[in-house]
Amino acid sequence: MLRFTLNGKTVETDLAPDTPLLWAVRDGFKLKGSKFGCGAGLCGACTMHVDGVAQKTCVLPLAAVAGRAVTTIEGVTATGAAEALQAAWVAQSVSQCGYCQSGQIMAASALLAQNPNPTEADVEAAMAGNICRCGCYPRIKSAVLAAAATLAPDAVVQGTPFKDAMAREASA
Ligand code: FES
Ligand code: FES
Repeated sequence: MLRFTLNGKTVETDLAPDTPLLWAVRDGFKLKGSKFGCGAGLCGACTMHVDGVAQKTCVLPLAAVAGRAVTTIEGVTATGAAEALQAAWVAQSVSQCGYCQSGQIMAASALLAQNPNPTEADVEAAMAGNICRCGCYPRIKSAVLAAAATLAPDAVVQGTPFKDAMAREASA
């Protein structure tokens, strides 16, 4: 029996220890917000947090999360960063088909938890492992910066006030 914390609650599973965490969460615990994309750790659709760090869970065995805290898109909505991201996502109409979006939010929320004042380069680096087949990258970056500005309104991007950086993003 393997035990870990899932969205703040202790859970147990008798699935094989080499079962990918993504399948355990989707099929075992019926949380379907995290998506299967490539299954090879390349696209980020399956991103969850493990002890607050964004992880590609299609290639992460259950054994690796024993005793650790796993958060999915269903659980991350309780945090302030996720609320700011959700508002920015809606305001900027980020999503197109939506398939990659839970992974994008998980990567972005892990970034803002670790670095509440990211530069554009920080955002690009943190989001580089999350592919969007609809090509929403400019809106995703803009929304992450907007959420950061909401959380830290006096922050700057590479020496530029956020409102100016946002205006530059909007006109790009
Ligand atoms: S489905 Fe996990 S990285 Fe693509
Ligand atoms: S919105 Fe369609 S894959 Fe990203």
